[in-house]
Amino acid sequence: MGARPDHGSVTFPVQQAAPAPERTARTRHFVMCPPTHFDVVSVLNPWMDPAVPVDRDRAMSQWSGLVAAYQSLGHRVDLLAPGPGLPDMVFAANGALVVGGRALGAAFLHPERRPEAALHRELLAELGIAVHEPVHTNEGEGDFAVVGDLVLAGTGFRTDRAAHAEAQEVLGVPVVSLQLVDPRFYHLDTCLAVLDDTTVAWFPAAFSASSQQVVRTLFPGAVEATEADALAFGLNAVSDGRHVLLPVAATTLAADLRAAGFEPVGIELDELVKAGGSVKCCTLELRQEERA
Ligand code: ARG
Repeated sequence: MGARPDHGSVTFPVQQAAPAPERTARTRHFVMCPPTHFDVVSVLNPWMDPAVPVDRDRAMSQWSGLVAAYQSLGHRVDLLAPGPGLPDMVFAANGALVVGGRALGAAFLHPERRPEAALHRELLAELGIAVHEPVHTNEGEGDFAVVGDLVLAGTGFRTDRAAHAEAQEVLGVPVVSLQLVDPRFYHLDTCLAVLDDTTVAWFPAAFSASSQQVVRTLFPGAVEATEADALAFGLNAVSDGRHVLLPVAATTLAADLRAAGFEPVGIELDELVKAGGSVKCCTLELRQEERA
């Protein structure tokens, strides 16, 4: 031990980058709502400015591009009928959390969005999914992220911390609370993306120091996004386990995902960023297979 070589130089083994694991896609079932009545008329988050005009046709064609991208990857997309007077209804992720065939309905913080919850409940009922009526404020998959057998739950701006315990009780899955601290990242799905059952990407500075520790403990291999990519809504992404659909502008994150074995698919959805949302916000996933 500790013996010095008595001749020449020591050759260190060449560090080979570990090969990225093979990533497998699983077919998903999504609910989306067309931006028929999309507009920015109030300020629910720092991205919204009613003085900036919205191009609804552009929003519709960008949104249709996302639907087409999911369908071309073999995913099922069911449409929720848009409600008049509900300019944010395109953000279907906020309408519920569905895990193991059980659903927790949403209870929106802002009165402007509250009527959306019942419209989601009706569609889920048509699809044979009974919805538990929530007691505490929660904005569905905006603040709840399913990672394998675990649910990560954001709080700080929208979803009440008490709703985390409520989700655990209703759905029978462990829920881990995470504290959000930056108003630009007001929902969990703006600063953390689920890539597969054991992998996430995130922007650490959007979380309290203690919550950062929690994420690092649970996901030592988490992919970290730059602030520029997080501000480009790069983490508002949807993955099927292999393909990761994310805003085209998040170029560093796309490269890092590719290096980790994923296939980034760039989506242009900047018209919806005027309301503070992108790919994930438009997408509610229905997980109907029962859990053990
Ligand atoms: N304007 C909407 C709101 O502030 C955007 C919602 C975005 N949805 C999401 N899942 N982050 O409520």
